[in-house]
Amino acid sequence: MNFEAKTRGWPKIEIRNLHKSFGPKKVLDGVDLDVAAGESVVVIGGSGTGKSVMLKCILGLLQPDRGSIKVDGEEVVGMNGSERRRVMRKFGMLFQGAALFDSLPVWMNVAFGLIEGRHMPRDEAKAIALGKLAAVGLGAEVAELYPVELSGGMQKRVALARAIATEPEIIFFDEPTTGLDPIMSDVINELIIKCVQDLGATALSISHDMASVRRIAHRVAMIYNGRIIWTGAVDAIDHSGNPYVDQFIHGRAEGPIQMAAAYP
Ligand SMILES: Nc1ncnc2c1ncn2[C@@H]1O[C@H](COP(=O)(O)OP(=O)(O)OP(=O)(O)O)[C@@H](O)[C@H]1O
Ligand SMILES: [Mg+2]
Repeated sequence: MNFEAKTRGWPKIEIRNLHKSFGPKKVLDGVDLDVAAGESVVVIGGSGTGKSVMLKCILGLLQPDRGSIKVDGEEVVGMNGSERRRVMRKFGMLFQGAALFDSLPVWMNVAFGLIEGRHMPRDEAKAIALGKLAAVGLGAEVAELYPVELSGGMQKRVALARAIATEPEIIFFDEPTTGLDPIMSDVINELIIKCVQDLGATALSISHDMASVRRIAHRVAMIYNGRIIWTGAVDAIDHSGNPYVDQFIHGRAEGPIQMAAAYP
């Protein structure tokens, strides 16, 4: 950890005994996780272990089968309509697959939450969008393009600009550096740190990129078999004493984590 949380304190998000299955497939099997205000937590874990599902449960995009999720002490499981919209205004989200609106130019994608959610005049929203695009290394010429005209890495950066456009209290970053070159990854890492440090945002991220994890996390949580099996300060990951964490951070095929790889 090389940056300090500004307002680390009360629990911003509290997840207890969260369960989610799809048909017979148990994905989340009793997840417990706390994220304190102003803290940056990164969840690590193998592909298909339910990391994105967990974020979608918090956002209400998926309905958990069981368990509790509190945001600022308020239970959000089962919340709907205007109550949920009120709570959701606290959040910004970078989806794993960018998930941009194809029919809108880049700047409108970024400004969407400001215009639709905050009823900001278009000119004002556009000026903010251009500023956020600049922060992710994209010039004004990109603002008028459509998502289909961008490379994958550029789409990711637009999605990131959208996630931070409203300067939300809580930001979820699902694989923020996947598909970016090492230099751009570092720009994005810096931006995430800035959101936490300068804006006092609370960040919950998912990453496979250990270099990024080491830069952006105060605390790391490892998910395995539907549960958080280890959590600790980022400085502790090299001495966790946990064989699952060791195998994951070193990317070893050999170890307690069995990958369902099919060899001919
Ligand atoms: N809407 C859905 N309907 C059915 N199954 C789903 C749905 N969403 C996710 N799953 C299943 O839940 C499991 C966990 O998916 P999830 O996307 O959370 O994985 P992940 O940990 O984010 O993986 P990755 O690191 O590859 O992004 C997978 O087996 C996936 O097929
Ligand atoms: Mg995922």
